[in-house]
Amino acid sequence: MSNIRYGVVGTGYFGAALARALARLPGAQVTLVYDPDNAARLAAEVGARQAASVEELCASADVDAVVVASPNFTHPEPVIAAARNGKHVFCEKPIALSYADCSRMVEAARKAGVLFMAGHVMNFMDGVRRAKSLIAEGVVGDILFCRAVRNGWEAPQAQVTWKKKRELSGGHLYHHIHELDLVQFLMGPAQRVTMAGGNVAHDGPAFGDEDDMLLITLEFGNKRFAAIEYGSAFRWPEHHVLIEGSKGAIRIDLQEVGVELRAPGRRETFLLHRTPEEDADRTAIYRNSTTDGAIMYGNPSIEPPLWLRGIIEHEFTYFHGLMQGKKPLPEFAALTDGTAAMAAIATADALSLSLAEDRKVSVSEITGRHV
Ligand SMILES: NC(=O)c1ccc[n+]([C@@H]2O[C@H](COP(=O)([O-])OP(=O)(O)OC[C@H]3O[C@@H](n4cnc5c(N)ncnc54)[C@H](O)[C@@H]3O)[C@@H](O)[C@H]2O)c1
Repeated sequence: MSNIRYGVVGTGYFGAALARALARLPGAQVTLVYDPDNAARLAAEVGARQAASVEELCASADVDAVVVASPNFTHPEPVIAAARNGKHVFCEKPIALSYADCSRMVEAARKAGVLFMAGHVMNFMDGVRRAKSLIAEGVVGDILFCRAVRNGWEAPQAQVTWKKKRELSGGHLYHHIHELDLVQFLMGPAQRVTMAGGNVAHDGPAFGDEDDMLLITLEFGNKRFAAIEYGSAFRWPEHHVLIEGSKGAIRIDLQEVGVELRAPGRRETFLLHRTPEEDADRTAIYRNSTTDGAIMYGNPSIEPPLWLRGIIEHEFTYFHGLMQGKKPLPEFAALTDGTAAMAAIATADALSLSLAEDRKVSVSEITGRHV
């Protein structure tokens, strides 16, 4: 297996975790990092050099693949620079804050013939993979409906970070795009969508300007629907994905963590993460309330929780395997052919338009503008 050299753009809380995960993989080396503020410590820790710019990192002969984990609004520049320099690239979610930017990024990778992987990490949870394979076996029949809920309460923050500013993060929907991605992974791209909501409980200088309550409907055609709730204006926290099929149902609980299948003659529960300890670790986070509606604040010296390190390890083992020449798995094809990234951002844009114009929107209104 060949040695792969990685450059990491953005080494804050999550980029540092990704760099550490990469550095632990056999045959992987983090050679260069770029971050305007936080690079020095992480660079010393993983034995990397600091680049002075995104361009220097992407053009470096010491980098085979680029990992982008900078703030959401900064993703297009390094992805396109990596592609232009013929480097494979992994990009954190949300890939972009508009379908136009997302298209430019996917197109740049296609044109350059490099792999572009979307960091939609929920797809690497063991329980999600098992749910998908039960669905593929026909155990729950045709999927008629999904409901995803990711609700919590945001307390005033000592500092209002980019994660709470709509222009920089995209707002709650883009920042927490995981559930929208998963539902479309299961049901295909949505056709017509609505979103209602607003900032109902977080006005004032201690908060950003994002909407804290978002109520979404998705229509897939052929009488199939989904409903998603997102927000940080909910005193009763909930985080789950319910998959209703014509024969049975699966409920993925991300709070009282675990997965349950109910189908004729079959009732099973299984783990969401790799071990009972990882599932319990995640439940403890909700009980101790170190999150607000599941948003994570951290810095490069804070390691993500056990369960999150587990899925990062799965995700980067997969990405690194591809870099070493392993064949892509059909299960994850949408993550590396641009489909998942484009579908998530197209639908998010259509939802934003629905909220702004107070009407039902066809996703083709978004995708049609850029074909
Ligand atoms: N997949 C997940 O579950 C998950 C979890 C957390 C974060 N993320 C994603 O990872 C990314 C980073 O989030 P975070 O929690 O590490 O945020 P963070 O604020 O802790 O870190 C961001 C880092 O980027 C640096 N930075 C700012 N502008 C930059 C630029 N132009 N180029 C390079 N670096 C720049 C900052 O100095 C900071 O060190 C975001 O896209 C976020 O959505 C994903």
